[in-house]
Amino acid sequence: MSKMLYVSHSPEETQKFAREQALVLTREGQGQPIIVALEGELGAGKTTFIQAFAEALGVEEHLKSPTFVLMKHYHLNNVPKYHMLYHIDCYRLSSSVDLLSFFGKDIIHLPGTIILIEWAERVADILPRNHWVIHVDHIAEQERNISITKHE
Ligand SMILES: Nc1ncnc2c1ncn2[C@@H]1O[C@H](COP(=O)(O)OP(=O)(O)OP(=O)(O)O)[C@@H](O)[C@H]1O
Ligand SMILES: [Mg+2]
Repeated sequence: MSKMLYVSHSPEETQKFAREQALVLTREGQGQPIIVALEGELGAGKTTFIQAFAEALGVEEHLKSPTFVLMKHYHLNNVPKYHMLYHIDCYRLSSSVDLLSFFGKDIIHLPGTIILIEWAERVADILPRNHWVIHVDHIAEQERNISITKHE
């Protein structure tokens, strides 16, 4: 398990960090599924991170949180070995059973897919062994501690 910490002083810095991470993760991922669990309190910056992450991979549509639909997907056209990005928001879920009944277990094993999950704490028990955890801590109005941990 390796861990890295980044201190962000503004939404723009969080976005810049997210764009960098998008490029690193997809380059290192080699087409294997990339699962990113985002943790952090209400308004920490999870969606802000995901928006910039998706933008860096060429998602043009402005990504909004799928709080009511649970999941949204975006086609990737210019990312080597990755063709689909899923954004899942578990805020309204009480357990992982709800998520499994929604789209089954297979999605997390599909090559060429990237899955970003907000409120991932709620479905921690069904995450695959290989995944990333990004934890955003609200420090001050504009300051956030962002940690990235690789689980394998
Ligand atoms: N350094 C920072 N990084 C990220 N967001 C910041 C930062 N400083 C201030 N903000 C503000 O905090 C808010 C973060 O909102 P965002 O929707 O990304 O949070 P969230 O974690 O997805 O919340 P929710 O739990 O409701 O889904 C935005 O209004 C953003 O402008
Ligand atoms: Mg959000």
